Amino acid sequence: MALRLGDEAPDFTAETTDGSIGFHEWKKGSWAILFSHPRDFTPVCTTELGAVAGLKPEFDKRNVKVMGLSVDSVSDHHRWASDIKDVTGNALNFPLIGDPDKSIANKYDMLHPNASDTATVRSVFIIGPDNKVKLSLTYPASTGRNFKELLRVIDSLQLTASHKVATPADWVQGEDVIIVPAVSDEDATKTFPGFVAKKPYLRVTPQPGKQSS
Ligand code: BEZ
Repeated sequence: MALRLGDEAPDFTAETTDGSIGFHEWKKGSWAILFSHPRDFTPVCTTELGAVAGLKPEFDKRNVKVMGLSVDSVSDHHRWASDIKDVTGNALNFPLIGDPDKSIANKYDMLHPNASDTATVRSVFIIGPDNKVKLSLTYPASTGRNFKELLRVIDSLQLTASHKVATPADWVQGEDVIIVPAVSDEDATKTFPGFVAKKPYLRVTPQPGKQSS
């Protein structure tokens, strides 16, 4: 069955470009992104993996570990890595799983036979420090993902995990946020003094913990 939000992300041990890794042990205490791509030595995937490598400082800042997967072998991944560096300027700096028997892809429902009967689709799972799935999305092979959008989502997930707020459409770090409906006006006055009620159910407040610039 497909993984749903709030489900435990299945544990596994995988052969990767960084050696054998036990997933839960590797991510212990961190957020993680596990993402699949269809095949090695393909154009969109080459740009995607370079883009993710280039964002490593941003993932590190947010305590997020990243791991990629495709059904090709680890030795193919190693050969492909030099193309990724060549084309994008970014060396592979996160583990890539080789999953030729598709065992991990199957656990995470990354094979969609009506789209491709051989290759993984472009799945993304954001997994919390509690090993629960916080976000999943699926793109087709023909569309490269926007990894800066994943950083934006992580900022929202991390903020809303520690404060009783939600983030509005197109929100980015530092912008005003929404007080969740479960907080009464009385409690909101204490926790978010000066909040603005645009509607009784839409109460806006500055982002908690916002760094002043
Ligand atoms: C690509 O990464 O470029 C790609 C992979 C599979 C199908 C289409 C494109």
